Amino acid sequence: MMGNEIMTKQIFNEFTDEQRAQHLRDEYAVETPLENKNGIVTYKIEDLAELNALRTYVEKKLESIVDGFKVESLEIAHVGIPTSLTDYDPKFGINELTTYFYENDGDFRDNYLSLLKKVKKNIFAEDCYYQDTPTLRIHTPFPVGQECFYPHYHTDICLGHHPREINIWIPLTYFKSDSGFYMLDLDASREVLGEFNYDIVKVNANKENFNEMCKKHSSEVTTNFGEVLVFDGRCVHSTEKMKDQTRVSIDTRLLTDNVWENSEYIYRGTGRRAMLFTPGEYYSQDRI
Ligand SMILES: [Fe+2]
Repeated sequence: MMGNEIMTKQIFNEFTDEQRAQHLRDEYAVETPLENKNGIVTYKIEDLAELNALRTYVEKKLESIVDGFKVESLEIAHVGIPTSLTDYDPKFGINELTTYFYENDGDFRDNYLSLLKKVKKNIFAEDCYYQDTPTLRIHTPFPVGQECFYPHYHTDICLGHHPREINIWIPLTYFKSDSGFYMLDLDASREVLGEFNYDIVKVNANKENFNEMCKKHSSEVTTNFGEVLVFDGRCVHSTEKMKDQTRVSIDTRLLTDNVWENSEYIYRGTGRRAMLFTPGEYYSQDRI
């Protein structure tokens, strides 16, 4: 599907609140490839070459960002990083460190793609588009009692994403004491969102209540370095305040060719850049 065809499709974001809620009710009723795993599965990566290379890349880059900083171990990187780089912005929950990783070198991309292809093979036989620029996040311990952007339970659909995306979460740190990443399985996600009739506007207007309900139904992700978590994009998730360790992770998304070709609508991000979830924009131009 090329440019002109894309433009004949309606932009989902422009619908009324009720139309959008109805669409989400329909989408949550669809059974997708991870349905029998209740939306969440972990894969072990046999060859750690790419993961090790990505981890080393992050270490070196951190050393170039923070003057005089030497990474002994990524899991304790917070000890040497000023909080001005790790505090979250109040609107999007992004810290400054993450923004340094919006642009990465060719080796980073090669390792990312090579790893993603291996993971994708475990899930789909058909071709997929993928998030062209993956997001690298660095979360560090946050003082108890200090106001924080997190928890911020959501599905990426709340941020405008295509509802049939499959999320890939790749930890680059070992799980020591906490991952700071919490998830609800697909059934629990349906239950909690069902309480709000799948109306994202209602969810956003009752954020505290929603967070509390989600927290009760969530479990901490314990996926370790050397493993990759794959989950249905409809699963609710959030970062929680880290307690004792630094967590570095990459998050990215896949969309199958078939889903893209048969999509009724075009989706647009609600973030700063308002990106279209289309091949060549948010997704890759090529398929893997
Ligand atoms: Fe998310």
